[in-house]
This record gives sequence, C-alpha cells and structure tokens, in this order.
Amino acid sequence: MARRPFIGGNWKMNTDLATGKVLARTIAAEWGADVSRAEVVVFPPFPYLESVGQEIGLSSVALGAQDLSSEANGARTGEVSAEMLCDMGVRWVLVGHSERRHRLGESDALVAEKLAMALESGLQVVLCVGENLQQRHAGRTHEVVGLQLRSAFAQVPEEAVARIVIAYEPVWAIGTGVAATATDALEAHHEIRAFMSSRYDSELASSIRIVYGGSLVPGNAKTIFAAPGVDGGLVGGASLKAADFLSICSSAVIGIEAGRTGDSA
Ligand code: PGA
Repeated sequence: MARRPFIGGNWKMNTDLATGKVLARTIAAEWGADVSRAEVVVFPPFPYLESVGQEIGLSSVALGAQDLSSEANGARTGEVSAEMLCDMGVRWVLVGHSERRHRLGESDALVAEKLAMALESGLQVVLCVGENLQQRHAGRTHEVVGLQLRSAFAQVPEEAVARIVIAYEPVWAIGTGVAATATDALEAHHEIRAFMSSRYDSELASSIRIVYGGSLVPGNAKTIFAAPGVDGGLVGGASLKAADFLSICSSAVIGIEAGRTGDSA
C-alpha cells in the first residue's frame, strides 16, 4: 500500500499569538478541506496550542506539540505531560529533535522514554534522528543514526510502529540553508528502512513513513521528495510562511508521486 505523504510544520519558538492564529487559519483554509492528498500537521509553541487548535478546527490539518515530558505527572516544574497534550486536542508530538538533543542535552535514553510515554498515551510521534557535521565528515552517519534508532525502538512493540513517522534530519542541514541532496536523503532513508526491516520485518519497514527535514524550501522540496523512499518532510523556517509551507505540501504530493515509480522500498 502506498505510504501517505506527511508534512509537519515545526514552528519552534516562533510566532506570537496573533501571527500563529493567522498562519494556522490560512493553512487550514487552503489545505484543510482535502484529507486525501497528504497528512499535514502544525507544531506551534505550547502556549498557542489551544488557539491554533481552534483555528484549524475540524479541517484535515492536525495539531502537534514540539515536546512532552517523559513523566506522567508530578513535581516536574515547567514540563508538559502527554495527558495535558491530549486534553488540548494534540494528536502528534515531536520526539528527539536535534535542537533538544544537542542544545538541551537530551540523551538517547530520554528520547526513548519520551517516545514510550507518547505512544502509551495514544499520541502519534515524529521521531527525529540525524548526524551532525563532524560525524558526517568522519563517515559515521550510518553508525550514529543506527544508534539513535536502536535506542528509540528497543522497547517499541510492533503494533505501535504505525503511529510513528521517522524524520531524518541531518543536524548540519537544520536552519542552515544547506539542505541535503536528494541522494543524501535517499541513502539515509534506505538505511533507516533497512534498520526497521531487521528490527521488525520487511512489511513493517515498507509501511513506515520516513520524512526528510533540514532547510526544506519551495525551491528544493520537489527534488528531495522525488527521491525514492522519501515520504514527506519536517519543515522549520519555511513553515512560518503559509505560502511557502503550502507550496512544500503540494510538492510532497507531486514529488512523491513522481518518485514512486523508482521506489523499490
Ligand atoms: P529548518 O528546520 O527547515 O528550518 O531547517 C527543520 C527542523 O528543525 O525540523
């Protein structure tokens, strides 16, 4: 069965209440009536989740959060639990984003705990993995991504995997304006699918969606999405402009369709 394209807009610590609402309203109005083409999710900052949720309403655009606590509740000042997210109508959550891994020191173990908590709570997860520039130059991409995946999926039961999208996000491409080439993405996605095949089985590996993230813009999206095995994208900077984000969403549908003929995964 063909994998449905997935596009996430990670707003990070950007927008204010007014601009976030307009952004969400515009995306929902332009894209939200069509449920068939691609799954589109916006990830606003925590304080705007409720307002953005109201703006996207019953459209097909879904609400996502950028993080969650690994704990269910209790003395965790500043943290937000999975249950709180579910209360706010959140359906998706980012786990393991490189900005949290590298700037905030989230370990592979913590990422695995957050993943487990999200899945237990019924949330769907975009699990981010990727190597930094030094690791890439040292030829360690495969090893680093493999370690991140092994740790994250160690305790994930087979039946929960359908609720995970894996985002391959090379750290050197995030927010730098230097996107990976379609070949870089294709190779990494191939390795990730091979890992999933060995961890679970080939059927499951060919059903999981693997998306690319890192300096996606309207000008490069179609080419990257046409790489076999690339099922969409996680978009940072370009998700803050409705027109750019919508253009990338359309490119996902067109590009992935074009690339499918060569997709043996
Ligand atoms: P970028 O961010 O598109 O601004 O590079 C991507 C991400 O961090 O998910």
